[in-house]
Amino acid sequence: MNPSATAPAERPPVGGPGGDPRISVRNLWKIFGRNAGSVIGTENEHLDRDTVRERTGCTVAVRDLSFDVHPGEIFVVMGLSGSGKSTLVRCLTRLIEPTAGRVLLDGEDVGACTPRQLRELRRHRMAMVFQHFGLLPHRRVLDNVAYGLEVRGAGRAERHARAREMIEMVGLAGYEDVRPGRLSGGMQQRVGLARALAVDPDVLLFDEPFSALDPLIRRDMQREVLRLQRELDKTAVFITHDLSEALKLGDRIAIMRDGALVQMGTAEELVGRPADDYVRDFVEDVNRTDVLTVRWLMRPPRPDEPLDGPAAAPRTVVRDVVPLLSNSTAPVRVVDGDRLLGVVGREDVLRAIAEDLSDGATKAAADAADGRAATAAPEA
Ligand SMILES: Nc1ncnc2c1ncn2[C@@H]1O[C@H](COP(=O)(O)OP(=O)(O)O)[C@@H](O)[C@H]1O
Ligand SMILES: [Mg+2]
Repeated sequence: MNPSATAPAERPPVGGPGGDPRISVRNLWKIFGRNAGSVIGTENEHLDRDTVRERTGCTVAVRDLSFDVHPGEIFVVMGLSGSGKSTLVRCLTRLIEPTAGRVLLDGEDVGACTPRQLRELRRHRMAMVFQHFGLLPHRRVLDNVAYGLEVRGAGRAERHARAREMIEMVGLAGYEDVRPGRLSGGMQQRVGLARALAVDPDVLLFDEPFSALDPLIRRDMQREVLRLQRELDKTAVFITHDLSEALKLGDRIAIMRDGALVQMGTAEELVGRPADDYVRDFVEDVNRTDVLTVRWLMRPPRPDEPLDGPAAAPRTVVRDVVPLLSNSTAPVRVVDGDRLLGVVGREDVLRAIAEDLSDGATKAAADAADGRAATAAPEA
């Protein structure tokens, strides 16, 4: 089985919006520049980023964002460079001070924290993994990983024991005494990950942590994040500009453009129903059968349909029901335990695949027509 193809289907369901969110962001704004206060609540607040910059000299880096992140969830924020992702993730711990709006961590207002409470929060509850690793070059791996514990006053024996445990967990046992500069990029980021995990935070914040890594190493690291998140039950906010990374990791994905939220949803919501051309551009090349699930395709059975077909769990991806249907004329039953949720027949799968093909076919036809038009024009 191809793990990358089935990864989205294997993700455990996320505790829905019913439970208390770990992080709540409400109407968050960050405006860089001297007259930042003169934008929100004025007519300027509705203008696009370039116009605001022309009129006021300010940059709207984050615009009126609201979302919740649930415990145990990997919440991905994606967008082109400059869309405000780093600013957003830094506003969560007030490494950048928001201009307006609220951030709640387990219901507690981060904006109201005193400097001391904020330090505590950063040392115990939220840890960050950076793109360029941010390791201390003169310290060996062990002391890099133990750094957060040292800062918060843990004794040497305790912090070393914990650091060794984390080094083992990220697969770097044996490298405790090596300086980071001697390690490959992927290994350095494992150190970064171990360092973040060492303080046992509730929330991990990742700002494009794997962008600097080679594709194969990157894939290993993505699997590592999924494994650790499952084993340790952390909540994560993961920033990336890479769609395949977002689809692989994200329980939900928020897409940003020019500081604003364009669409938020599961991988299949984005791929199956992109909100606008910006999102469509991102998801255009995705193989829909790897992302769309039977839950997405299913329908109520028709009265004349046989109900003795193969069963599949709701999160099974379309690619994996094709072999089931090739052996059965009855539709696949989508079941949750004993409960029948709906059915997916051959024609439903073909339609899901055909939409893929027809997109391509339409484009090929349009390109061909353009070509004809171009060659036809001189003759006319
Ligand atoms: N310290 C700053 N001062 C002024 N403008 C900034 C600052 N940091 C970021 N910006 C601007 O805010 C916008 C969002 O930047 P950023 O959050 O870094 O985006 P991303 O991480 O998505 O690439 C960009 O237009 C960027 O130039
Ligand atoms: Mg960034």
